[in-house]
Amino acid sequence: MSNLQLDFLGSTARTHYCGALRASDAGQQAVLMGWVNRRRDLGNLIFIDVRDRSGITQVVFDAGEANTAVLEKAAELRAEYVIAVTGLVKRRDPKTVNPKMETGEIELAAQELLILNDSKPLPFNIADGETAGKTDEEVRLRYRYLDLRRPEMQANIELRHKVALAIRQELNARGFMEIETPFMTRSTPEGARDYLVPSRVHPGSFYALPQSPQIFKQILMISGCDKYFQIVRCFRDEDLRADRQPEFTQIDLEMSFPTQEKVFAVVESFLSAAFAVTGAELTLPFPRMTYDEAMRKYGSDKPDLRVPALTDVSDLLSFEQKQALNISAELPVIAIRAAQIGELSRKERDEIKTLLSSKAAKAVKLIDDFKRLDKSFPDAAQTIRIASEAQEGDLILLLAAPGPDEDLGRLIPGVRLQREYAVYQAAGDLRLALARKYAARHHAFDRTGSAADYHFLWVTDFPMFEYDEEEHQWNAAHHPFTSPHEDDLKAGRLTSDPGAVRALAYDIVLNGTELGSGSIRIHRQDVQAQIFRALGMSDEEAHSRFGFFLEALEYGTPPHGGIALGLDRIVMILAGAPSLREVIPFPKTARAVDLMMDAPTPVSEAQLRELAIRVSNPVSGA
Ligand code: AMO
Repeated sequence: MSNLQLDFLGSTARTHYCGALRASDAGQQAVLMGWVNRRRDLGNLIFIDVRDRSGITQVVFDAGEANTAVLEKAAELRAEYVIAVTGLVKRRDPKTVNPKMETGEIELAAQELLILNDSKPLPFNIADGETAGKTDEEVRLRYRYLDLRRPEMQANIELRHKVALAIRQELNARGFMEIETPFMTRSTPEGARDYLVPSRVHPGSFYALPQSPQIFKQILMISGCDKYFQIVRCFRDEDLRADRQPEFTQIDLEMSFPTQEKVFAVVESFLSAAFAVTGAELTLPFPRMTYDEAMRKYGSDKPDLRVPALTDVSDLLSFEQKQALNISAELPVIAIRAAQIGELSRKERDEIKTLLSSKAAKAVKLIDDFKRLDKSFPDAAQTIRIASEAQEGDLILLLAAPGPDEDLGRLIPGVRLQREYAVYQAAGDLRLALARKYAARHHAFDRTGSAADYHFLWVTDFPMFEYDEEEHQWNAAHHPFTSPHEDDLKAGRLTSDPGAVRALAYDIVLNGTELGSGSIRIHRQDVQAQIFRALGMSDEEAHSRFGFFLEALEYGTPPHGGIALGLDRIVMILAGAPSLREVIPFPKTARAVDLMMDAPTPVSEAQLRELAIRVSNPVSGA
């Protein structure tokens, strides 16, 4: 670093943010403070773009307004030096007006300059709008404090703040109270791995960080709090993806005496407040669809409505035709319409198969060559085209379970249904994979910046149980406090046909992403005991995991229900960002590492001893 003399701020006071000045301010004296974004030195004339979180102003140092000493000082400035500039706001010459900058009609003619701090040369360029795409993400995360200075990241942080605020205000207006619940607690029922915190006072015992405040919010209903919400951090040790982080934020809520529709109305109201932050006016209510319909139409429990639905064409092929095609005559045959992807080359056609997951590739048969079908069964091929509403430029594929059929009649009913869903799901996955691969051709995912970009959907009536064919047992599809449909309880299906029991569980889906999930809960101890029994959980096991909660249920628990939405996912979609890491100020990498803090780290022997912990396989150098 040069022997640059740094100035003290003293009593100099900022008059404006760097994004604030407009043509109407011309003639005023202003004091701006911020970082040197860019510098152009023409000798007698130096241009400095000064930046803060609100924007950028062009500052001009010229021999006319500033004296030689100030000009010489300005020549010392480099990227990211911190400065305070006093000057006169001037309209720019019409030829130099920059319509892309909010302050582009003015510039500040500098009179005085304080250099408050210098900066080492940067590991990446902050001023360049393309940084995110060009810089290795690990470098961005390691120097997150610099990355966050970039206007795109500042915008995301501000958007997150405004969205959370709008949601808080809406929930407050609807009578919800924000109540904090503990972070040092015990295992919750969400089903991921826990992050554990060792107890020093109770050697060998551990707190678990909550995967959600699920039990606490239900307890709060038992406590008579009536309407609870919390914008709250949750912790899950699970495999990470673009839309998953080990710590993430939920908009969590619970209400007493609700119907499903009441929960939906609350969520719709705060989502429209949140989306209004970006100017999008959502149309309410959102459409609703049962799980069964979502699976049959979209092969997914989180349908992306921007992509054409599947068509079940099982009835358009005869038994003999199915035999000739060597596909199942019992399970569904599905037509997938890939809209507007045009003629595919031989190579592209071959690639279609690789879009199927390895599991799906084993379970289904893909008929991607319509020419053959046209030749063998021209009438059926034509009816399938019509049924799937094929248009010029669309590609139609058929997907079915391979034949010949095993004796499906022998399977218990719920399992047969699961086999059907598996075929729909393979078709649904392929439908999306194709749409994503050829997105540039069909424009379904283009953004207009308006409400038309957002396709919300409530998915309802999820199955209560999933059958594990390997373990030969029914598992809860959600957490075990989810209430079954009252009609299914009354009809005794819990024991006669568990696969047909619907849960009062629902998801809110946006453009194929699960934003949130919730349910009406079980409020009666006898029903809760039946569910544990149906899950094969012994009384002992249930009591050791949830004993205190089961006891609480016996003291006048009101009917209650709620939901939790991922705040990070909402902001990610609103920001048009490709990953949660773009909208979380300090995220973890896909390997759950904080690169800036360098966490997690080994700890000292002394610390471990105090906690009565011995590490069996210590990392060398710890
Ligand atoms: P669930 O487990 O479905 O439900 O979570 C609710 C929502 O939280 C978000 N989410 C995540 N976001 C980022 N990273 C993660 N690892 C992650 N995991 C979940 C998703 C998801 O839809 N207690 C229940 C809710 C209830 O029944 O009221 C629960 O936590 O957006």
